[in-house]
Amino acid sequence: MFSVKGLVEKGSLTSIPSKFVMASVPKQDILSEVEVIPTIDFSQLTSGTPDQRSKVIHDIGSACREWGFFMVINHSVPKKVMDDMLKATESFFDLAEDEKGEYRNKQLFDPIRYGTGFNVSMEKAFWRDYLKVHVHPHFNAPHKPHEFREISQEYCKRAREVASELFRAISISLGLEGNYINKAMEIGEGSQLLVVNLYPPCPKPEIAIGLPPHSDHGLLTLLIQNEVSGLQVVHKGKWVTISPLPNSILVNTGDHMEILTNGRYKSVVHQAVVNNKATRLSIGTAHGPTLDKTVRPAPELVDGESFPPAYRGITYREYMEVQQSNELKGKSCLDRIR
Ligand code: SIN
Ligand code: FE2
Repeated sequence: MFSVKGLVEKGSLTSIPSKFVMASVPKQDILSEVEVIPTIDFSQLTSGTPDQRSKVIHDIGSACREWGFFMVINHSVPKKVMDDMLKATESFFDLAEDEKGEYRNKQLFDPIRYGTGFNVSMEKAFWRDYLKVHVHPHFNAPHKPHEFREISQEYCKRAREVASELFRAISISLGLEGNYINKAMEIGEGSQLLVVNLYPPCPKPEIAIGLPPHSDHGLLTLLIQNEVSGLQVVHKGKWVTISPLPNSILVNTGDHMEILTNGRYKSVVHQAVVNNKATRLSIGTAHGPTLDKTVRPAPELVDGESFPPAYRGITYREYMEVQQSNELKGKSCLDRIR
């Protein structure tokens, strides 16, 4: 068994094994340099004046409608908790391969999975090692490094608090009661999946990909990252590179937000590209309903004439299975439940 990190550390790589060579990686010439994603000042949501709060809720609604992505600053996760989380995940990847090996070859709903990205047919590999941990409603953590449990528990709890506040704002922005999403989606008992991505330097970044174009399952994804950029999102038909802003949390709407809002807030296709200089580390948490909850368009957002239901109902668990067993390819999973 190999990891991308193991491959890179073996020695001076000048080319990459053929299974990492992608047929097409979107070309730089369709990159848009002019678009800047919206920034949301979270403190105005929680402790602003009524006017500031209304404005920021309005801005979150616009960001969800126009981008599906926004950068959250002045949020409630302490810098130290974010820094410790980044350090602990780096230490996880630094463990010897056989120490991480017990989490390899695990299935979708196993509590902890470690591996290297592959497409479904296993013909192609992605330039990314990952660790995926189901952290809510039942908390799990790898045994090593020893600090991982405590640090990730704290970070994930803080991330849930931010998500819950954003669900309130998003509900109001849709004309719904503030607690609507938290209640309808049973967020208190909801699912939270921690996904840690390591993208080591790649000698041929123009022909490899860290994560191919996809949209996320779940309602919202919260992402923190080290100082190395690599995330690109589709906006107005062009790829936009999102550079990390120190101490910020990048938020994006997932497929289940699109289903619940009956297409008012769409999930957006994004990908992770790699570079030949520095290791990129990103830590995402996907926030969704309980796994057995059936998600369908909210009745309040369906109107027989102008907004008929765009999707059929599907449990979160079933949706994740569909995504897992199909090629990561844009929004192909959502298309299956129309
Ligand atoms: C993801 O799309 O889940 C992670 C992308 C990233 O590494 O920024
Ligand atoms: Fe994603």
